[in-house]
Amino acid sequence: MKIAVVGTGYVGLVTGVVLASLGNDVICVDKDREKLDRISKGQAPIYEPGLEELIQRSLSDGYLRVSDSIIDSARASDIVFIAVGTPPAEDGSPDLSAVREVAAEIAAGIESYTIVVNKSTVPVGSGDLVANIILSKGVPADRFDVVSNPEFLREGSAIRDTLEPDRIVIGAKNPEAAQMLVELYAPLNCKAFITDLNTAELIKYASNSFLALKISFINALSQICEACGADVGDAAAGIGADSRIGSAFLHAGLGWGGSCFPKDVRGMISTSQQFGYDFRLLKEVIDINDSQVARLLDRIENRLGGFAGRTVALLGLAFKANTDDIREARSLILIEHILGRGGKVQACDPVAVDVVRRFYPDVTYCHTPYESVTGADAAVVVTEWNEFKQLDLARIAGLMKQPLMFDGRRIYSREKAERAGLEYFAIGSSAPNEAPLPT
Ligand code: UDX
Repeated sequence: MKIAVVGTGYVGLVTGVVLASLGNDVICVDKDREKLDRISKGQAPIYEPGLEELIQRSLSDGYLRVSDSIIDSARASDIVFIAVGTPPAEDGSPDLSAVREVAAEIAAGIESYTIVVNKSTVPVGSGDLVANIILSKGVPADRFDVVSNPEFLREGSAIRDTLEPDRIVIGAKNPEAAQMLVELYAPLNCKAFITDLNTAELIKYASNSFLALKISFINALSQICEACGADVGDAAAGIGADSRIGSAFLHAGLGWGGSCFPKDVRGMISTSQQFGYDFRLLKEVIDINDSQVARLLDRIENRLGGFAGRTVALLGLAFKANTDDIREARSLILIEHILGRGGKVQACDPVAVDVVRRFYPDVTYCHTPYESVTGADAAVVVTEWNEFKQLDLARIAGLMKQPLMFDGRRIYSREKAERAGLEYFAIGSSAPNEAPLPT
């Protein structure tokens, strides 16, 4: 099939490249020429395992090209995906201006029957909004259909998630349009759920909100575990073994960040508000998430007797492992707070250092975790990178000014850390020593 994908962010680029790798003629569209140049040279503008190889293969097989013209690309395609950003506005509702602009341009390019697919995460009613914009530009109703086809890929495993999805959700008014999408995805051998536009849009928000809720639930439990001396890791294993609950997304720690959960939980709350429901449960989910970082900062501050004149090593900057994405990363809150109180930060990350440096030039950036803990008064595990799991903890303890480790992702065992000579606190285990250290 002839496909155009507008927007070359995580969702758009991965979708476009995967569809090209399945043998479709795909045009990836963006107004950022620099990004397009990189893609056409076989480079991935974002860090995502496997993406660059797939771009190169699709280019050399002749299935992938790039364009900065939405109109020309829409004219040349049977299916046009909208995969542009919908960042949260001040009030938490998603900003749909990019979706609106793109819909108007697609309309200008439609000459024969075209399916317009919304892949951007959008509130209920956005499919109708896109259809109305296209109609208002004079495109006859029988020349196009709008379909909602939300994306569930995770950064870091985006290619695999797209090639092997748990489910494909298709929302459409016209069953024939839905069937076209079913055929497009047929090579993936995954069951497609066909429903109406509003339900498909709701499924995306609700899925991410539910996952965020699961994490906040276990994080709330982590606070109780710290107080009563229980262990949240064992508790999660015991709870998750119930097949009705499941063990995924029960890993306690500093909480969720990234481009989706924070935006989509707020989006779900604002959509609910719009339809007269006050989703207080989700407001609490956000509060619990915020409190995880705040509580850890309090613990470190107490133990250090304040941050002024202290050096804190941050192991990890990305919002999670296997990505260089720092949107809503917990590391940024830690950096702001520590620097703001007169402390110093020495940070390392396998891939996200360059992006953070642009925003926080005052942080000392290190090549290795060993370099970043050297002379530090405390070390904090912020991102669960595999590279950090095998560190020589005795060497870490020896390099630090105070061998004090706060594990915000629970990647070490207490026994191993203490044997290595570290004073070790992991979120969700018993409370740490709170007596202030001498300066
Ligand atoms: C998420 C959804 O999983 C995906 O389906 C959707 O399309 C986009 O949003 P992503 O943001 O890439 O994907 O990352 P994910 O792996 O879901 O993790 C989100 C955040 O939750 C990360 O900050 C991660 O560290 C945190 N997390 C995840 C936990 O704190 N505990 C867990 O048990 C799982």
